[in-house]
Amino acid sequence: MLHREPSSSGFVTPVYTSGNLGAAAKVLAAGGIVVFPTETVYGIGASALLEHAVAKIFEAKGRPQDNPLILHIHSTALLSEAVASVPRSAELLFEAFSPGPLTIVLPKAERVSPLVTAGLPTVGIRIPSHPVAREFLEMCNVPVAAPSANISGQPSPTSLEMALSGLDGKVDCAVDGGFCQHGIESTIVRCSDGEVVLLRPGAITVEMIARCLGEELPGVRVRAPDAEGGAVVMPAQPEAPGMSYRHYQPRAEVFVTERIDGARTRKRFHGRRFGVMAMNRPPVGVGPATPVYVMNSAEEYAHLLYRKLVWFDGQGCEVIVAELPPPQGVGLAVRDRLRRAAGGQEL
Ligand code: TXA
Ligand code: MG
Repeated sequence: MLHREPSSSGFVTPVYTSGNLGAAAKVLAAGGIVVFPTETVYGIGASALLEHAVAKIFEAKGRPQDNPLILHIHSTALLSEAVASVPRSAELLFEAFSPGPLTIVLPKAERVSPLVTAGLPTVGIRIPSHPVAREFLEMCNVPVAAPSANISGQPSPTSLEMALSGLDGKVDCAVDGGFCQHGIESTIVRCSDGEVVLLRPGAITVEMIARCLGEELPGVRVRAPDAEGGAVVMPAQPEAPGMSYRHYQPRAEVFVTERIDGARTRKRFHGRRFGVMAMNRPPVGVGPATPVYVMNSAEEYAHLLYRKLVWFDGQGCEVIVAELPPPQGVGLAVRDRLRRAAGGQEL
């Protein structure tokens, strides 16, 4: 990549905004890689039709090649370019939840490169609802392969600044769409004729999916293999390949807990700077200089999760203790991400 001077944004990467996205779409069509916003997290995209461009995504993120990418399209009109067939269950889910934070894994079309799917016979399809993503994808008018725009293993970016803090100078351009609404990645399901399997929890919950399919397709089984006693736990054999990797981890070591005991936590991490992400009320007894952030709902937790993990790093914390939200609705997805960020460490 050519050496560039920092622009007024402070980044060397050229940044485009709504109303001015033709240039970014051109970069993508010419084989470049582009950071762009979605309603979940920022993505780093390439034309799915250009293998050499897709390869650049893996390089920029430091992503293992055996972790497949999902395809982003602006409308179901582009589905036939990406998938071989669409079962009725998937049709109903697209109708109900797209555009929106849902990715549906379907049998891939022959033309989709094995580099995108890491050799799998299936491909994930997502139609984002973020207006700037829609504007950009319409201009691209090809399936855009895009993982989250973080360096592999780190928290996903929910603002342009977060994305470029890791990828500035490693991508050809970026699109600014402000802060992401949901803040955690899309729900992923795999659809076949007989069953729908949850591969990653998100803002679209299993209950919403089951309710949507229940009336018209009562015979279809909706399955959440990782759900246990209402909480999603880490499976031994994950069905979404990427879920087995180190994930969402800030520099600080993360511990999760159902309910924080301030005094015990202070004792446990004596001599180490720790921060607390609490649910509903500030913790008592953690000490006056301890960075604390209180989440008031599961939705707020999802929206701010990754940004706050990075904020605690900025506060010099070596440890972050995160109180888990209740295991309902999007709370299940937040618990899943927190447990992975913690690598399973509980207090
Ligand atoms: O919200 C999102 O989904 C964001 C935004 C940018 O759209 N994207 C995102 O992509 O989170 P990524 O690559 O960070 O996560 C996609 C996950 C990975 O864990 C990957 O292993 C899994 O989807 N995946 C991709 N293709 C798959 C397939 N054919 N079968 C099963 N899992 C798949
Ligand atoms: Mg990711």
